[in-house]
Amino acid sequence: MSRKFLVRSCIATSSILVFATIMMSITGRNPLHARVPDKTDEQTVEQVRKNIQVLKGLPASQLNMVMDYVATSLGVRCQHCHVSDSSGWQYEKDDKQTKNTARKMMQMVMDLNTKNFGGRTAVTCFTCHRGSTEPAKIITLPQPSAKPRQEQTTAVPTFPSVDQILGMYEKALGGTDAMKKITSRMSKGVSVDEQGREAPVEVVQQAPNKYSASVSVREGMQFTRSFNGTNGWMNSPRGAREIPTDELDGFRRIAPLFPISRIRELSKTMQVSQIDAVNGARAYVLAAPVSENTTERYYIDSASGLLLRGVVVTQTMIGDIPEQIDYSNYRAVDGAMIPFTVRTAAVDPRDGSTYKFTSVEQNVPIDEKKFMMLEMKQRRR
Ligand code: HEC
Ligand code: HEC
Repeated sequence: MSRKFLVRSCIATSSILVFATIMMSITGRNPLHARVPDKTDEQTVEQVRKNIQVLKGLPASQLNMVMDYVATSLGVRCQHCHVSDSSGWQYEKDDKQTKNTARKMMQMVMDLNTKNFGGRTAVTCFTCHRGSTEPAKIITLPQPSAKPRQEQTTAVPTFPSVDQILGMYEKALGGTDAMKKITSRMSKGVSVDEQGREAPVEVVQQAPNKYSASVSVREGMQFTRSFNGTNGWMNSPRGAREIPTDELDGFRRIAPLFPISRIRELSKTMQVSQIDAVNGARAYVLAAPVSENTTERYYIDSASGLLLRGVVVTQTMIGDIPEQIDYSNYRAVDGAMIPFTVRTAAVDPRDGSTYKFTSVEQNVPIDEKKFMMLEMKQRRR
């Protein structure tokens, strides 16, 4: 049973929704926690679930993500297709017609892509549904008139090389010397969830890759996730537990003081794929495969040279599923540029949150305990 389902099922009758939401936004399938299901020995979903007829061969670790994707693509929640009773969710049951329709649709999507797009997942649920159970059947009028097609002036656009772009990014950050002088960081501010609810947040980082983030929902209600470079932990009012090794990948992306170190690690296989708009800015898109079915993409502002966005894309049978971190509101602290706003987003809107920092202090001593699991006595059962 995956964590997320456990969290979800126990909130069904709960009045402490905030608790669950925060729990999900810091434990759940958050971009920060993106799993990389690349193990060849990994079990497939039909091996671990009871009633899989279409998604055979899907890595078991992708099921959560795919279900979130299906639900969000249609603008519904799990109960649109699944039944629950007093003993909880009965995901394997086929009582709802919508679930059967969804199966046919999944098959249709796979066939469409195989027959028409050479097996690329060009068409997904979202292509037609766009957040609704009823895709548009008829064009809405009036439509704007088509703009005259611009003459193709130049051939293929040319981009700077990966090295040039990363050099530009490094320079924009303040340069390697300024960055090297920074060995720790303590950032404080608020975490804003998808519904606009705010809670104090504190993030501490220690070079090269120790990380801890704490959100205090209210007095005595603190949620912390920590990474000491090798192991990760979750601490919540319910207790402490270790994060399984295969879920630690997200920390490798967010723990370094400057994402450039993560990006440099990938630069050998990285390519400049295109120019894309990010919140009004034009960004170079750098993409690198990180496993058999995941790709990381980094968006570097072509004007300022700063990192605007990081995306992890997981290729699944029914489509490519993104998880995203946006960086903005950069300010200089100790000669290096730090994003004071960090926004994470996943297909389940409840997994997203925005950290808005108001104070960032660097080279302050950080208690090593911050990166360790709290005493086991906190464990609930
Ligand atoms: C639009 C319909 C739809 C929605 C919404 C949906 N699912 Fe599913 N779900 C399915 C279908 C169809 C299958 C079976 C796939 C197959 O047979 O290959 C399935 C299978 C499952 C299974 C495996 C059950 C088993 O033991 O065989 C789980 C667990 C699951 N869904 C969880 C969820 C969760 C959690 C959500 C909400 C985030 C959700 N689903 C949302 C259609 C849906
Ligand atoms: C090519 C377009 C297209 C794609 C792709 C597509 N659908 Fe649909 N879907 C439709 C249309 C059109 C309807 C409405 C059919 C009707 O009017 O009877 C529909 C209806 C449905 C319904 C029933 C409506 C309801 O009330 O819930 C479900 C469930 C559904 N789709 C799930 C999915 C899932 C899951 C995927 C991705 C695996 C998907 N669809 C992909 C076009 C599409």
